[in-house]
Amino acid sequence: MFLINGQFPGPLIQANWGDWVEVTVTNNIQAPEEGTSLHWHGLLQAGTQWQDGVPGVSQCPIAPGETYTYRFRADQFGSSMYHAHYSAQYTAGVYGAMITYGPTQLDYDIDVGPVIVSDWNHIPYFSIVQNVMTMNMSEYPTYSDSGLINGRGRFDCSKPSYGQSFNDSNWLASNYPSTLQWSCVDDAQRSQFRFQSGKTHRLRLMNVGADGFQRFSIDGHTMTVIALDYVPVQPYTTDSIMLGISQRADVLITADASSTSSFWMRSELLNAATCGGLAPPGINEFPIFAEVYYEDADTTLEPVSTTTVKSTSCNNAPIDITQPEYVIPPSTQPFYQDLVLTMTVNDTGSWEWEINGQTYRADYNNPLLYDAADGQTSFPSDPQYNLYNFASNTSVVLNITNATPFPHPIHMHGHNFYVLNVGGVGAPWDGSTVNPTNPLRRDVQIVPPLGFIAIQFEANNPGIWPLHCHVAWHLSGGWYINVMSQPELLTIPAGERDLTCKAWDAWTAKNVVD
Ligand code: C2O
Repeated sequence: MFLINGQFPGPLIQANWGDWVEVTVTNNIQAPEEGTSLHWHGLLQAGTQWQDGVPGVSQCPIAPGETYTYRFRADQFGSSMYHAHYSAQYTAGVYGAMITYGPTQLDYDIDVGPVIVSDWNHIPYFSIVQNVMTMNMSEYPTYSDSGLINGRGRFDCSKPSYGQSFNDSNWLASNYPSTLQWSCVDDAQRSQFRFQSGKTHRLRLMNVGADGFQRFSIDGHTMTVIALDYVPVQPYTTDSIMLGISQRADVLITADASSTSSFWMRSELLNAATCGGLAPPGINEFPIFAEVYYEDADTTLEPVSTTTVKSTSCNNAPIDITQPEYVIPPSTQPFYQDLVLTMTVNDTGSWEWEINGQTYRADYNNPLLYDAADGQTSFPSDPQYNLYNFASNTSVVLNITNATPFPHPIHMHGHNFYVLNVGGVGAPWDGSTVNPTNPLRRDVQIVPPLGFIAIQFEANNPGIWPLHCHVAWHLSGGWYINVMSQPELLTIPAGERDLTCKAWDAWTAKNVVD
């Protein structure tokens, strides 16, 4: 796996709202060497689009042995994470939490900090990407066989695992390097959290997994949701919350049990096929546990609490109950664009992930770094870039239809988009908005199986902004477009391209990258 500063998850980055943040990244990945980059998920990068950390768009990958320093503003406050945006590399460990402190009117006593849930694969990520890109129509993408909370989890060694969900065991045998086999440990330590009785705790929940949807809860407690992604919302109370990949939720939990209590924190891991009702029952549908101990609890004993199964829906909470705290009504008279997500077969018989009939292929050597100072006058027009130029439109509605029977977490860079409406199976959008004066805003929203989401963004952040499914394999598979707005207002510093591309061009000239 991959570590950042010798840690997994990587170190917590903390800032105050408005701070400038500098992060110097050295790519020391070896055996096999590969590129990297870090993306600051959910930050707007207003005026600094080239710091967005996306190889093939805002930079070249940082070549092995090279160093690059990011410098950007913490222009959103709340809870998020940074992660590699090179292939599906983050799923193998290249991520960490980022918290930006900002104003809040809410009362709580203890900031517990990040609670990162993730699925975990015991197979090198590049093997999974390779499998996903070449598997035939009778196969489904892999499911992870285990999960983690803040980097720790316990795996049941009796499971017929290690990629059991690969339908093609020959493929696995020939691609899964035996030198990377490990011995299974049944009793790995779980993450532990301490609660103070009578106090209110703020937990910063985030799903930084590859493809698992996660329904989070703590036995014996309810939680009050106060922010979704980077947007404070009018508080509402629930017993569990759905976290699609890369979604965050800040919740307040009051420790109202006795001081000797202990409880399970659990995140029910649901795979997309399960969510769509298509998986064989019980496959990849299991809780990930961490331990919550009150101040006088005996921490040598496991919690004994049990809970009835919470909802297994993989949809986000209904948008009529998730309204932003601060009202910013959407612009009227936006430009409309339909986007349809489909899975089709390509000419080699493998799955292909397309938006409006086109799959995205990043060109890591030719990022979309418009550099007028270098004499560049236009962007590449090859259809593989999936570039949607919204020119000088000031507001854009994207009506995103999901033609697959699985849910998908749709993320857009550089914006908190409005979620105008969400619909389930077979219901096309009728053009209406659920809370017209104050629709939910966030940066990731789950599109239900065979359903739609209608989102709107204000084109007030000049640049080129990826919009993609955050399922790691779908991102690699090409379910991705580049949204371009107000290109005439975008000025990239002269020479920016060279900072990463010179070394990357030289390295790729000597090494084959697939
Ligand atoms: Cu979490 Cu394209 O990013």
